[in-house]
Amino acid sequence: MKIMSVVGARPQFVKLAPMARALAARCTHLVVHTGQHYDPALSTVFFDELEIPRPDDHLDIGSASHGAQTGRMLEELEAVMTRRRPDAVLVYGDTNSTLAATLAAVKLGIPVAHLEAGLRSFDRSMPEEHNRVVTDHAADLLLAPTAEAVSHLAREGLAGRTRLVGDVMTDVLLRVRDQVAAAEEARPETLLRHGIEGGYVLATLHRPANTDDPVRLAEVLDGVATAATPGAPVLLLAHPRLRDRARAAGVALERPGVVVAPPVGYQELVRLLGGADGVVTDSGGLQKEAFLLRRPCVTVRSETEWPETVDLHWNELVGERPWSIGARLAALGCDETDDEPYGDGHAADRAADAVLGLALSRR
Ligand code: UD1
Repeated sequence: MKIMSVVGARPQFVKLAPMARALAARCTHLVVHTGQHYDPALSTVFFDELEIPRPDDHLDIGSASHGAQTGRMLEELEAVMTRRRPDAVLVYGDTNSTLAATLAAVKLGIPVAHLEAGLRSFDRSMPEEHNRVVTDHAADLLLAPTAEAVSHLAREGLAGRTRLVGDVMTDVLLRVRDQVAAAEEARPETLLRHGIEGGYVLATLHRPANTDDPVRLAEVLDGVATAATPGAPVLLLAHPRLRDRARAAGVALERPGVVVAPPVGYQELVRLLGGADGVVTDSGGLQKEAFLLRRPCVTVRSETEWPETVDLHWNELVGERPWSIGARLAALGCDETDDEPYGDGHAADRAADAVLGLALSRR
């Protein structure tokens, strides 16, 4: 039995880690990297640190407008799938790589499983929302991370193809958290390099809705700076998209109380997150990782795919009020809770079994 995973962007490499482990124990597992993310800090570092086998095929697509990037991937993926003839294709999350792989596979009649199915922001201006809705409706098996995701799929008439498996990000986060704790290293290297000796707030920004309009970008960066307090700066890990758009717009990332650093690998992220006083982000993954490590978080968006973090008062959406970021972060309720809305850390095994079941059913 041959299963092909298609990945291309940073969060997909993280999700691939536990799936590669689970699938390698069950079948022949091929990995295709589209090359959507190509900077070593966004790509290679995750394969190395998370011990993911090198991709069997690397398509080197790179950056382009959405249509051009997705179209190039579609053409190349069709060729790879025709040559490799997998029994099923596994796609991850909601990027352009996800959409391209889904379309390539369904047009060749290869069964498709979608990991992280059923998430909805209900914001149709987000590229990820188109990608996930189209992928869910085209795929044969929908591996949902949460009960909420299951209910979205049921409302769209997709209950028959849905399986609740839990969230594989929980699997990888808990494993790396334990590895980092066992290593008992001194302070994270990023803090040493930037002279941060006390507390800090960890920040990331990369959504087009925050980065691509210069007025909005300046407003958001002003808001991020309000989370700094005397002795506890904001550590802003700057995604290339943020750097590019800020440079093009002539908007400074550096401001009083804000320390700007390059993106980090997964272990360093988990170290930085575990020690942070709070988090400011527009990333889906980081909101949830903050909750899993019980760090308070404000999200610079108006909606979230992870509403459980908000319901349990560990996350607040401040997209419409970026100037209030510091105040809202300080005011968060952060209820003590044993709830595990994102699963028990064994989602990858359940997902791998389901993918093999799909492949077998189509033989
Ligand atoms: C993509 C995903 C987004 C995901 C994010 C994680 C889509 C539509 N978006 O957004 O869902 O949350 O990845 O990071 O698929 N760039 C580099 N080096 C790289 C890659 C990109 O410098 O290795 C720069 C380029 O200027 C590029 C820009 O970042 O134009 C945006 O890259 P792109 O892959 O289009 O989307 P992301 O913003 O990274």
